Amino acid sequence: MDVFHGLYFSFLFVSTIIAMVLASDPYSEALLSLKSEVVDDYNSLDDWLVPPGSGNPLGKVIACSWSGVKCNNNSTIVIALDLSMKNLGGALSGKQFGVFTELVDLNISYNSFFSQLPVEIFNLTNLASLDISRNNFSGQLPSGISGLRNLVVLDAFSNSFEGLLPIEISQLQHLKILNLAGSYFNGPIPPQYGSFKSLEFLHLAGNFLGGSIPPELGQLKTVTHMEIGYNSYQGSIPWQLGNMSEIQYLDIAGANLSGSIPMQLSNLTKLQSLFLFRNHLTGQIPREFSRIRNLISLDLSDNQISGAIPESFAELKNLRLLSLMYNEMNGTVPEAIAALPSLDTLFIWNNFFSGSLPLHLGRNSKLRWVDVSTNNLIGTIPPDICAGGVLFKLILFSNSFTGSLSPSLSNCSSLVRLRLEDNSFSGDILLNFSNLPHIAYIDLSRNKFTGGIPVDVSKASKLEYFNVSNNPELGGIIPAQTWSLPLLQNFSASACNISGNIPPFNSCKSISAIEVHTNNLSGNAPDSVSNCHALERLDLSNNKFTGNIPEELASLPDLEFLDLSHNNLCGQIPSKLGSSSSLLVLNVSFNDISGTIPANKVLRSMGGSAYVGNPKLCGPPLGPCASSMVILGSKGTGKLILVLLLCAGIVMFIVASVLGIFYIRRGSGGQWKMISFIGLPRFTTDDVLRSFNPTHSKEAMPQLPGSLCKAVLPTGITVSVKKVEWEAKRMEAVSEFIRRMGNARHKNLIRLLGFCYNKRMGYLLYDHFPNGNLSENLIRMKRDCAAKYQIVIGIAKGLCFLHHDCYPAIPHGDLKSSNVLLDDNMEPHLTEFAFKYLVWLANCSSPATIHGRETGEFNSTIKEELYNDIYSFGEMIVEILTNGRLKNAGGSIQSKPREILWREICSDNEVGSTNSLQEEIKVVLDVALLCTRSRPSQRLSMQEALKLLSAMKPTKKIR
Ligand SMILES: *[C@@H]1O[C@H](CO)[C@@H](O)[C@H](O)[C@H]1NC(C)=O
Ligand SMILES: *[C@@H]1O[C@H](CO)[C@@H](O)[C@H](O)[C@H]1NC(C)=O
Ligand SMILES: *[C@@H]1O[C@H](CO)[C@@H](O)[C@H](O)[C@H]1NC(C)=O
Ligand SMILES: *[C@@H]1O[C@H](CO)[C@@H](O)[C@H](O)[C@H]1NC(C)=O
Repeated sequence: MDVFHGLYFSFLFVSTIIAMVLASDPYSEALLSLKSEVVDDYNSLDDWLVPPGSGNPLGKVIACSWSGVKCNNNSTIVIALDLSMKNLGGALSGKQFGVFTELVDLNISYNSFFSQLPVEIFNLTNLASLDISRNNFSGQLPSGISGLRNLVVLDAFSNSFEGLLPIEISQLQHLKILNLAGSYFNGPIPPQYGSFKSLEFLHLAGNFLGGSIPPELGQLKTVTHMEIGYNSYQGSIPWQLGNMSEIQYLDIAGANLSGSIPMQLSNLTKLQSLFLFRNHLTGQIPREFSRIRNLISLDLSDNQISGAIPESFAELKNLRLLSLMYNEMNGTVPEAIAALPSLDTLFIWNNFFSGSLPLHLGRNSKLRWVDVSTNNLIGTIPPDICAGGVLFKLILFSNSFTGSLSPSLSNCSSLVRLRLEDNSFSGDILLNFSNLPHIAYIDLSRNKFTGGIPVDVSKASKLEYFNVSNNPELGGIIPAQTWSLPLLQNFSASACNISGNIPPFNSCKSISAIEVHTNNLSGNAPDSVSNCHALERLDLSNNKFTGNIPEELASLPDLEFLDLSHNNLCGQIPSKLGSSSSLLVLNVSFNDISGTIPANKVLRSMGGSAYVGNPKLCGPPLGPCASSMVILGSKGTGKLILVLLLCAGIVMFIVASVLGIFYIRRGSGGQWKMISFIGLPRFTTDDVLRSFNPTHSKEAMPQLPGSLCKAVLPTGITVSVKKVEWEAKRMEAVSEFIRRMGNARHKNLIRLLGFCYNKRMGYLLYDHFPNGNLSENLIRMKRDCAAKYQIVIGIAKGLCFLHHDCYPAIPHGDLKSSNVLLDDNMEPHLTEFAFKYLVWLANCSSPATIHGRETGEFNSTIKEELYNDIYSFGEMIVEILTNGRLKNAGGSIQSKPREILWREICSDNEVGSTNSLQEEIKVVLDVALLCTRSRPSQRLSMQEALKLLSAMKPTKKIR
């Protein structure tokens, strides 16, 4: 009964509304009908109401007072509709548009309208401005647009249109602004687009356009701004573009262009910005470019341009940005560059420039950012480089610079980032740290500095990264207050001939890495290291430290890498160290440590090499402790001896049986051997072979090399097994490589437990993960951004370890979502790493000379594969963010406007437009984009990627 009542009343209510609407004017009616059609989750159109009892006796339009609606003076006609940024969505039927014959201005930008653009819009023949940008309209742009004869502005930026660019648009002779960028339009730019008579702004970038750029565009003599890059054209830049006499802004970056830069572009004397980066342009920069006196920004980076910087550039008095990085340019940097009065950014890195930098660089302009790294430059830092007082990044690494830092940098208080590594700078480190209030990053490594680390380094209160490693004659001590730097994360001073003690760690909240190996440091390793809660990496190896291993190290929650080898440490290994949940690498070899290695999984898993060189240390994984010693040191020896003898007997029996089995199992491949990477052999070769087939036939193993299969060992342990086969002569190289793989231990890599092999084949045994791989789990994580972040960062950490912490680096080689296994905590573990190389090594027909350092061919393959890993990582981020919707999408995300991608991904994750998660998604997406750049050397390194990702620290904000 109640239900019927309810229905009855809603019916009454609805009828009332309809009655009211019918009583109003046709404009308001049409708008109410439009309102009923759009999705308005944020109630942006709440005020679109007809007040009860209101008529419109004077023929006035009620809607004139509604938000976004604009009428003429006496409120009789609607002339403009602005629904932009109202969080509206849905598909538009277009059936209401017939009413708005007088509409001049229609703006529905920044919403989420989708599906076809209603063709009825093209009946609004008075429209001067149509802005449908930043929506998700799809399909072809319907025909009929030429009906908008008065159109001046057509902005369709950032939608999902496809098909050819409509030729018809070229009939709109009043058009001043045409923006069809950021969709999926394909095919060539119609030559007819050169016939606009009043066009000022043409933006077609970021589509799938191809073909050659029509020379007819050169006829666009009224255009001041043209962006047609981020497409994939054929051929070169038509010289006719040199006729676009009004143009001020020309961007054809990332467009697959080849050939040389046409000299005729130097006729574009009004040009202020010229962006041709990321193409395949060759030849030299035309000397005539100096005629473009208005030029402010010139970016020709990432091409194959050769030759020198023209001397004539001295005439470009307005030039602020000169970016020529990533080319093949050579010669010296002309003194003329130093004369440019407006220059603030100079990027010429990754070229073959030689000679000194211009002596007066910095004297005549306020330089802000100078990056000349990776060239063949010599000489000193120009004395006035910081004279403008705003230099914040100075990047000079990997050149052959000499001389001292004074006077050019000693008072450069604006610096934020200073990278001088890999040069031949000498003299004292003359940086006045108390006068560097903003400096965050200093790398002085691999130079010839002397005079020690300046005592006032602790005054640089924003310092996060400090590296002076490999300055062999630096000397001095570690200044007492160093650890008090509040933001310091990385302190590296290895191989610097530093002596003295390590200062006590009174406060060191943010330090994550301390590397001071290969110095003359002495004294105890201070107990106060327990204050460094963020410490992940501590390398004190190759020094003269004495005393005990501080037990406090065991309490550091994130300590992963601890190298104390080659010192004079004594005492026992603190057993607490074994309970650390984070420790992955421990090395205490070559000290004077004594006693038994604590019987503990973590400590034993480090392998014997972590403990050797300590004559008084014993117990697995080293040799057993001499029983006499133990017995003499204890009371009640009778029983103990008995027990020990019994144990020895059992061990001998096992050894004998295993040998027996080996003997029996001798087959075509010879004896089977077993290498275990996790300390004690919890299982034997026999266990492994038997698990494949109860009848002991080892050949019954799955024949498919590379396939991962599950095996339950007789001891009850489930492992994943992979089979490899090789030519007998390759055995040594293969087993050496597998040892390297086994020693690559990281929380985000699958553990290689062991390896059993004969001369011709072997089985790799890995931890088994019952939860399956990332690919299978993606759908379940749809909205769980925190889990996604954890997975992305875990993968990054694993890869970063393979690329940067293993030497030589180990490429993964086959990174994809099905090769990421998830544990119970949804922590990712990379599997299949290095397997591709193993197979390569195993079957390589070249002579068996390949050992640790490999041949040149192998080396360059590895380098290439590292880049491929990074690319795959970028693609995988996108796959994770889109719940698997975009797979292997590296190329397509590069050619799509970032804005669109970002919005798509936000909707994949059901993140509302007001959510702070949006910004975080943007950061992660940016990392993906930087990892999938087409030119390998431009991709982020895994170290950089990890740093960017970690910087977000979203764990607090998410949830
Ligand atoms: C309103 O103004 C227009 C001109 O803007 C005029 O043509 C029309 O007659 C006016 N209507 C009324 C009802 O005043
Ligand atoms: C739109 O214009 C076409 C002709 O171009 C016409 O056939 C059609 O009826 C018009 N539609 C409306 C709703 O006015
Ligand atoms: C354009 O440049 C070419 C070569 O640089 C020159 O011959 C020609 O006269 C220039 N045209 C105009 C209109 O300046
Ligand atoms: C620059 O490179 C070109 C070849 O690309 C070579 O012919 C020329 O001699 C080089 N110039 C200098 C100064 O090294």
